[in-house]
Amino acid sequence: MRIFSGIRPTGTIHLGNYLGAIKQWIDLQQDNECVFSVVDLHAITSPYDKKKFSDNVLQMASAYLALGLNPEKCLLFVQSHIKEHAELAWLLGTICPLGDLKRMTQFKEKSKTQDVNAGLFNYPVLMAADILLYQTEIVPVGQDQKQHVELTRSLAQKFNKKFGKTFQVPSPQISKEGAKIMSLTEPKKKMSKSDKDKSYIEIFEEDEKIRKKIMSAKTDTGKKIKYDPIKKPGISNLLNIYSLLSSKSVKELEGVFADKSYQSFKKDLAELIINYLEPFKRKQKEYLQREVYVKEILDQGRKRAQSIALSTMDEVKKKMGLE
Ligand code: TYM
Repeated sequence: MRIFSGIRPTGTIHLGNYLGAIKQWIDLQQDNECVFSVVDLHAITSPYDKKKFSDNVLQMASAYLALGLNPEKCLLFVQSHIKEHAELAWLLGTICPLGDLKRMTQFKEKSKTQDVNAGLFNYPVLMAADILLYQTEIVPVGQDQKQHVELTRSLAQKFNKKFGKTFQVPSPQISKEGAKIMSLTEPKKKMSKSDKDKSYIEIFEEDEKIRKKIMSAKTDTGKKIKYDPIKKPGISNLLNIYSLLSSKSVKELEGVFADKSYQSFKKDLAELIINYLEPFKRKQKEYLQREVYVKEILDQGRKRAQSIALSTMDEVKKKMGLE
């Protein structure tokens, strides 16, 4: 099956991005045709530092490799290197109802914290272009992106109806447990890179910082280590993270920690996270020193992705009468 997904190069990649998205990508690349992008055009819809930006893009590409994406099994490239993304986004914009964009919850949330530009409003249309350009069947993402993938589906269906069958209609793939990793400081909110530093664990974070963040993560009243997202959102989120990184079920963990304090559970969790992330950190350091190699991989990926993108665009333009 053809798979597409991406992450914005914002300088931080956190446990939510890994457990919600990348961990699925690593599995999917074994038996599917995977296309993964560093979606820089999406990142510039929010304020960013122009001087650091190209470094952030390379860091994200190195992170993809360090976390286990294999360039022999999947295509890796930078979104802005293929102009057809922006071109298709424009064309899809002409069939996208304004009301659909106004309903997007991520847009509504982001508008509360930053100036609204047209790019931010059109963000989901560009995302639809990313996905449809590659005739994608499956889009592995976290829960927060489900609405965007639903909009993509509806745009594909609308286009196919209006101009004749052109696009594959994609489906989201959302991992059951990793779908929504919550903030460490406000466990009723999702873990997010735009929140304060203490609320998320960075994938390449120093060990001591990870310990501090986990030890100070918000827990709930009571003493029992029990999974109950409504009454105990803090401890439930930590149990979920523990389970995803250890492959032990939440039930098993409740048993193991039945007589333990929050503090000793958190100590164990911090060490688990540190050990789990250690090989990734090592590889990331290596890739960061091999800039030429990483750029070469991105260039190879671009070439192969572009040929798919060009063939879709030819078809789209013909269907729309733009010859
Ligand atoms: P971004 O960079 O915000 O997030 C990247 C991926 O991480 C997932 N994610 C989470 N999963 C679980 N728990 C969390 N707390 C959490 N926070 C983030 C997101 O769901 C996402 O899968 N708009 C996309 C980027 C994009 C894209 C695409 C994705 C652009 N074009 C085409 C798929 C297909 C985004 O949210 O990036």
